[in-house]
Amino acid sequence: MKMNKTLLTLSLAAATLPSLSSAGEVEVLHWWTSGGEAKSVQELKAMLEEQGHSWKDFAVAGGGGESAMTVLKTRAVSGNPPSAAQIKGHDIQEWGGLGFLTNLDDVAQSGGWDASVPSMVTDVMKFNGEYVAVPVNVHRVNWLWANPEVLKKAGVEVPKTLDDFFAAAEKIKAAGFIPLAHGGQPWQDATVFEAIALDVLGSDDYRKAFVDLDMDTLSGDKMVEVFTKFQKVHDYIDANSPGRDWNVATSMVINGEAAMQIMGDWAKGEFTAAGKVPGKDYICAPAPGTDGQFTHNVDSFAFFEIKDETNVAAQKALAATILDKKFQEVFNLNKGSIPVRTDMDMSAFDQCALDSMASFKATAKTGDLVPSMAHGMSTTSYAQGAIYDVVTNFFNDPKADPKEAAQKLAKAVKAAI
Ligand code: GAL
Repeated sequence: MKMNKTLLTLSLAAATLPSLSSAGEVEVLHWWTSGGEAKSVQELKAMLEEQGHSWKDFAVAGGGGESAMTVLKTRAVSGNPPSAAQIKGHDIQEWGGLGFLTNLDDVAQSGGWDASVPSMVTDVMKFNGEYVAVPVNVHRVNWLWANPEVLKKAGVEVPKTLDDFFAAAEKIKAAGFIPLAHGGQPWQDATVFEAIALDVLGSDDYRKAFVDLDMDTLSGDKMVEVFTKFQKVHDYIDANSPGRDWNVATSMVINGEAAMQIMGDWAKGEFTAAGKVPGKDYICAPAPGTDGQFTHNVDSFAFFEIKDETNVAAQKALAATILDKKFQEVFNLNKGSIPVRTDMDMSAFDQCALDSMASFKATAKTGDLVPSMAHGMSTTSYAQGAIYDVVTNFFNDPKADPKEAAQKLAKAVKAAI
């Protein structure tokens, strides 16, 4: 029998959609509440609902996810974890070790995850060799976002080195604009700090400091230089930065109040949500001095052991959807990141995403692809917390001594591990 197109579509849909009796609910914890982030997570909700399941949103506001992690711990400890939670990097191992996570190997196998996602990512998603988490994307953290109008008015070019950056910042300040939009929160301080560290230390010593936690590198002369330059950044942010959310800082670049922001490419999600076009309304460039280097931040969802069978079916559908090609495209277009699958058609993506993908692939070969300390990729949450404290206290004390700070950094990390 020859089927017409509508009939064929209908029968295919019937074959892929679960029957209503297997419709379950997923409760998903995340911290994606800014404009671009909310749009991205909405896509996941919609695709899950298309399959007959329902989505219970468990959003805990707060960039970087510190508050979300605190809430998650309380829920899990009380024996009532959500189906899935935005858990990344080293934290996946910590949750796996506590026995909370469920095995997703069957979904991974039928989805062919091992073949379509780089092993540097899948390794992190596995606990004791079993998939317990699903990666969503790859964010590049070492980006500079700039408003070309403001740069033009101040008579400066996009800075390529840190020296250029400070020279440009001086002129931008003199022209009456805020040179750097910044939110004074520990994770944002750490995001700027690690961008400077990547340039000053270079990729190898960056890794020694934040992956190997090598005491000599953490307290060494180059780290003193990192703190010295980081301190200088303080001259170019505004007095209202303490406590400011990152997306509010991005909006200052969008509306021309500030010239630049050093932030991961979730910032692009805000430009996109505001209808802005890269290369025209805004510029994406590597953070000063870090061209040819790539600090990565892979978002992922870890899946919890739950009892209800229909909810387990919904949970598996969610896991499969996250790595679905259609979802990977629409989600990452909104989020500002690049797909985590390496077999995607990238034709819908803009120049910033294409540059990110090219750099991701190139740096994987040169050894310049490094994990983000500020975003939980390079070390445990304990060491990360110790680094955050030293970095933030230093940044907020105008009289702080860079040499002492480097020594404090090593000591704090040593005490945390
Ligand atoms: C990061 C996360 C990104 C983005 C950012 C700001 O830690 O990986 O996806 O959401 O926080 O909230």
